[in-house]
Amino acid sequence: MADDSIKKIVLMYSGGLDTSCMLKWLQERYGAEIVSFTADLGQEMEDPTRFKDIEQKAYDLGVVKHFTEDLKEEFVRDYIFPTIKANGLYQGVYPLSTAVGRPLIAKYAVKIAEQENADAIAHGCTGKGNDQVRMNVTAQALNPKLKILMPMVEWGMGRDDEVKYAREHGISVSNVNKTYSTDENIFGRSCECGILEHPDEIAPEDACAWTVPPIKAPDDPEIIKIEFDKGVPVAIDGSVIDPIELIERVHRAGARHGVGRLDHMEDRTVGLKSRETYECPAAIILIKAHQDLEKFVCTKHENSFKSIVDQRWTELVYEGLWVDPLREALEAFINTVNQRVTGWVKVRLFKGTASVVARSSPYALYDLNLATYGKESQFDEQSAEGFIKLHGLQSRMGYRLKHGKKDK
Ligand code: ARG
Repeated sequence: MADDSIKKIVLMYSGGLDTSCMLKWLQERYGAEIVSFTADLGQEMEDPTRFKDIEQKAYDLGVVKHFTEDLKEEFVRDYIFPTIKANGLYQGVYPLSTAVGRPLIAKYAVKIAEQENADAIAHGCTGKGNDQVRMNVTAQALNPKLKILMPMVEWGMGRDDEVKYAREHGISVSNVNKTYSTDENIFGRSCECGILEHPDEIAPEDACAWTVPPIKAPDDPEIIKIEFDKGVPVAIDGSVIDPIELIERVHRAGARHGVGRLDHMEDRTVGLKSRETYECPAAIILIKAHQDLEKFVCTKHENSFKSIVDQRWTELVYEGLWVDPLREALEAFINTVNQRVTGWVKVRLFKGTASVVARSSPYALYDLNLATYGKESQFDEQSAEGFIKLHGLQSRMGYRLKHGKKDK
């Protein structure tokens, strides 16, 4: 029996087949009014007018109100920049592009639900993935009174049933030849399902939509110069531009050169291993550049401890615990370290690779006078002898004892 106390539902609506069926299904099952909400996280970079079509589609399917929220600025400032400062690569590979979008979408779904006096929010996540965890943990933290509906779990329809249901309910199925399940925003594109579920098969070219195949990328490399201020990218090739444009520019440069294609066997929060492919040109370039600059200005002790903190931050965010106070506590450390991550990095893009090829910072702990192999070096090589003696003391003793050597 459907919960008949639910009179109004905010549906997170993408305009695709799943959420369109959901819209009708929720109306029928709960007899409730539906308010639809589409978050603009930069997924329609190439054609922002698509949001108008999504809105129209929602009204055609009978929503009482539709919201398109442009969240790009907040997404970049409060979610993507912290990911860059944390060098956030889950299991060393995946730059959290989908993961950081979810708590932001949930935040606005709750906000709209409160504003519209809705009883529930609904989303199109399945019961197998990470996204349900990210959405629900955030929403429940922000407003425990709101019910969360997950039609994908409740209705038990497969793809074919959905297409049938759509036809019966006047939902257009024109672009439903979807081989894959995808998620896109300004920081990356995730792709799974279909043939990708077979990790022993090479991902086909049609799993990619943003980047050129590395083999077809230009024969000439391109060097881009990225400037950072306190760990945040602020300028590219000498021009200071707003954060959204900066990410888009880095994205386009990377995409041209086939950079940021990832193929990852991933450990999901719910325990499954899954194979996902990604295209994250901007994320990969910016994280690589940031990490290089950070290493340049930090002591080796800071560097080694930072990687532990980064990994903890990344896992927490991947696992959907954005709201956990530990995240902000870790960020206090991350931000302190990033106070000195100012300077520039040059990255060479070439046939699918992004390599850091030069860097400079007023806070660099590098000193040419000390490091040079030239004879003008000021490094005290005489004291190295004593240093080595003490540095290796226990290791030498341990070795000789282990191998039964009696002499001291
Ligand atoms: N595995 C990624 C994550 O958990 C992406 C999930 C969404 N992917 C998708 N193809 N719909 O963050």
